[in-house]
Amino acid sequence: MSKSVFVTGATGFIGSRLVQNLVEQQYDVTSLVRKGKESHAKSQKIIGDLTDSNLKIPIENTDCVFHLASHTPLEKNKKILEKVNLDGTKNLFDKIKDKTKSVIYVSGLGVYGDPGDRIVDESFPYNPNTSFVKTRLEAQKYLEENCEKVGINFGVVHFGDVYGPKGWFYEFLVKRLLKNTFRLPKNGEYYKGFVHVDDAVGSLLSVLEQNPKKESYIVADSTPTTFRDFADFTADQIGAKHPKSVPVFLAKAVLGGDLIKLLTTSMKVSNKKISEIYDFKFPSYKQGIPNVISELQSTGLLQ
Ligand SMILES: NC(=O)c1ccc[n+]([C@@H]2O[C@H](COP(=O)([O-])OP(=O)(O)OC[C@H]3O[C@@H](n4cnc5c(N)ncnc54)[C@H](OP(=O)(O)O)[C@@H]3O)[C@@H](O)[C@H]2O)c1
Repeated sequence: MSKSVFVTGATGFIGSRLVQNLVEQQYDVTSLVRKGKESHAKSQKIIGDLTDSNLKIPIENTDCVFHLASHTPLEKNKKILEKVNLDGTKNLFDKIKDKTKSVIYVSGLGVYGDPGDRIVDESFPYNPNTSFVKTRLEAQKYLEENCEKVGINFGVVHFGDVYGPKGWFYEFLVKRLLKNTFRLPKNGEYYKGFVHVDDAVGSLLSVLEQNPKKESYIVADSTPTTFRDFADFTADQIGAKHPKSVPVFLAKAVLGGDLIKLLTTSMKVSNKKISEIYDFKFPSYKQGIPNVISELQSTGLLQ
C-alpha cells in the first residue's frame, strides 16, 4: 500500500517540487494550499492558512507531515514572521497531532549562527543570531518536544541554499544577472552550502523512508563554495557579466538586516550524515547549475 503524506508549503519553490516527486513515486499526497492557489493535479488539496485557528485538516492516519510553509527572511515584519512561522506551526501541530505517525520539519543552516572556520555537522550546537532564525528554531523545538510527548516520530532537515528553476536562484540571481543589477555584499567572499532542489527533495524522501524517531540532517552538496564563485559561474553559464559588490549597509537597507546577516555568514558544512542514506545527483554546483539552466531554457524562462 502506498504511503500517505501531507505537505504544507506545497505551492512554494521546494514544496511544489517535493509534491511532484512524491506523486511520481506513487505516494498518496495531500497538500495545504492557500485560497486562490493551485497544487499538483494528482495531489488532494486542502484549502487553508496556517494561522487560521479554524483550519480543518481532514486527513487520517497519515504516515508523514512535511512542514515547509513559512515566510522567508525577506519578510521584515517580526510580528508577521512570528504569527506564521511560530504560531502557525503550533496551530498546525494542534490540528495534526492525532492524525500522523511522523513529522518532518524543513529549516535552514542559520540555526548554527556564525561557526567561523569550523566545519558544521549535526553535533554542532544551535546558536541562532537573527530573530528570523530564533523564531524558526523555537518552532522546531516546539514540534520536537510535542511530537515526543504524543509519540510522533520527528525529523528536522536543515537545508543550505537551495537553487533551482524557481525561488531566489531564478528570481534574484538569474534575472538580475541578466539585467546586470545583481550586487554582492562583502563581494561574496563567504562560503555557502548550496544544494540543487532535486537533491533537497531527494534527501527529504530518503529521510521519510528512514522514518527517524528523532533526528536532524544537514542537507548541502559536497562542495562548499563562496557566493562569489557560485554567482560568477552562474553568470558565465547565461552569458552575463560577473556581478559587482555592494556595501553591506546599503544591502541591509534594501533587504533587511536578518537576510543580509544570513547571506553573508560564511559556513562550511559536512553532508556526511545525509550522504549515508542519500546519493547526491549534483555533488557540486558545477554540475547542478547547468542542469537548472537547461530546465529554464526548456520551459522558455531563459533564451
Ligand atoms: N529556498 C531555500 O534556499 C531554503 C533554504 C533553507 C530552508 N528553506 C526552507 O524551506 C521551506 C520552503 O522554502 P521555499 O523556498 O520553497 O519557500 P517559498 O517558495 O517561499 O514557499 C513558501 C510556502 O509557504 C506557504 N505559506 C506561507 N505562509 C503561509 C500561511 N500562512 N499558510 C499556509 N501556507 C503558507 C506559501 O504559500 P503561498 O504560495 O500561498 O504563498 C508557499 O507554499 C521554508 O521553510 C524555508 O525556510 C528554504
